[in-house]
Amino acid sequence: MNERLANIKQEILDGIEKRANSRAEAFELRKQFLDSKVGAIGQLMKEMRNIAPEERAAFGKNVNELKEWATAKFQELDELMKKRELEKRYASEKIDVTMPAEQIKNGNLHPITQMRNQLIDVFSGMGFDIYEGTEIENDYYNFTALNTPKDHPARDMQDTFYLSPEFLLRTQTSAGQIHVMEKRKPPIKILSPGRVFRSDDDATHSPMFHQMEGLVVDKKITLCDLKGMLDMFVQKIYGEGTTTRLRPSYFPFTEPSVEVDVSCFECGGKGCKLCKGTGWIEILGAGIVNKKVLENCGIDSEEYSGLAFGIGIERTAMLKYGINNIKTLFESDVRVLDQINDN
Ligand code: PHE
Repeated sequence: MNERLANIKQEILDGIEKRANSRAEAFELRKQFLDSKVGAIGQLMKEMRNIAPEERAAFGKNVNELKEWATAKFQELDELMKKRELEKRYASEKIDVTMPAEQIKNGNLHPITQMRNQLIDVFSGMGFDIYEGTEIENDYYNFTALNTPKDHPARDMQDTFYLSPEFLLRTQTSAGQIHVMEKRKPPIKILSPGRVFRSDDDATHSPMFHQMEGLVVDKKITLCDLKGMLDMFVQKIYGEGTTTRLRPSYFPFTEPSVEVDVSCFECGGKGCKLCKGTGWIEILGAGIVNKKVLENCGIDSEEYSGLAFGIGIERTAMLKYGINNIKTLFESDVRVLDQINDN
């Protein structure tokens, strides 16, 4: 019998050496010897009754000793396997903190969107609401109601994409002025950003571009209010110390009409390449809303007056970011777009 005990002990030692390469295998091996039902050591206990009574006590003691020894051995084995598995995991999860980090590429808003947002920020700070009109307009809103009836020569200023004799792609956000004045009573103070379309294509013109219309209608609105607002706008966008200058111009829907120049923010007015030596850069068209336009919308032009301005978003952005071809803004070249992050 003692020989059997010795064999079992040897089998355990062999098993540990050859068959236990993981915690799971060690567990299976343990079961083979120590499981209360099928384990080899448990089986020995069941054979007690076949042993001669005088040897029974000694046999029982030996079996118990073997069981304790095996239990300790498997415990030790399990600890060892646990340690090895951890080591393996640590090795496989090792991080080399000296490796160069992977570059994370963050996108940014398109320059036109950035400029649009900046303009909206400036003017909403002055109390302007946003009104977004539609890109398809009819002839009345885009021209006739803006005091530009059919055959008016000023229609030539904006080469129009007609969709039908009646409908067209709006050539100016000014069309939104009429919608707003038809629907709301003064005081009105709206800003209307959006796409406009003209059949025009060169380094500074694109068939599709963006404008931002401003309209204020209230009692006693004058050119001084316009100048005050525009000065504030150019200072916020082009830096403190920038001023504006108004030059007489012509738009059918404003009277008087002005062309607005900004003092050159590149040279401070001394004259440089950007301002072509003049110290001034033309930035937008504006004026006092023509009485006829107010009347077309049912607003009493004796009681109320208005001011309007139309800012070209591309032009404002090109000047600010030093872009000299408008196409650059539509080519989506990330090497360019990456450099313009003004938010
Ligand atoms: N709508 C004019 C244009 O597109 C700009 C403008 C707007 C002029 C408002 C005066 C008043 O050229």
